[in-house]
Amino acid sequence: MMNTVARKLIGTGGVLILSAALGSAAPTAKVDESGLRTAMKATGPAHGGLGKKIAAKDKTAADDAKKLAAWLGSDTEKYFKKAKASDGITFAKSASTEYKAIAKAVAAGKWDDAAASHKKASATCQGCHTAHREKAADGSYKVK
Ligand code: HEC
Repeated sequence: MMNTVARKLIGTGGVLILSAALGSAAPTAKVDESGLRTAMKATGPAHGGLGKKIAAKDKTAADDAKKLAAWLGSDTEKYFKKAKASDGITFAKSASTEYKAIAKAVAAGKWDDAAASHKKASATCQGCHTAHREKAADGSYKVK
């Protein structure tokens, strides 16, 4: 999966620049990935479910948002700190910030704000996955 910047780079013949950029983003040390994996497996359905709850103006969305804030801001961020991947840390922090904003917006009944933050959180998923997630031949995901 590639973002538009990556596509543009390839379009203009910048494949080398791109692979150099991705190479430098890769975690250098071998770090235990189990906490990250558990968080991600839970994040997938929870993030989608949260979007539906916001659309349905379901107040229990606040609890889901708090859980997601912890999975991203604690479990996921911890992994990228250990891996010393600063872009990953930034993506995880941004996601957590948006989930905290969602919890507050939902509690205040500000559904448009909650929806806007949910969209911003989705952008962090894509950003971090483009930089750090790879699909293995068997269809499972791994960190790159
Ligand atoms: C800071 C980086 C980062 C952010 C932010 C992030 N992810 Fe991930 N995600 C990863 C990495 C790395 C993997 C691959 C390793 C893995 O699967 O555990 C992954 C894997 C996944 C998987 C596959 C899990 C599996 O192994 O079966 C899902 C689903 C997922 N992410 C959903 C999300 C969603 C939804 C968001 C946004 C709310 C998100 N992720 C945000 C880094 C991130």
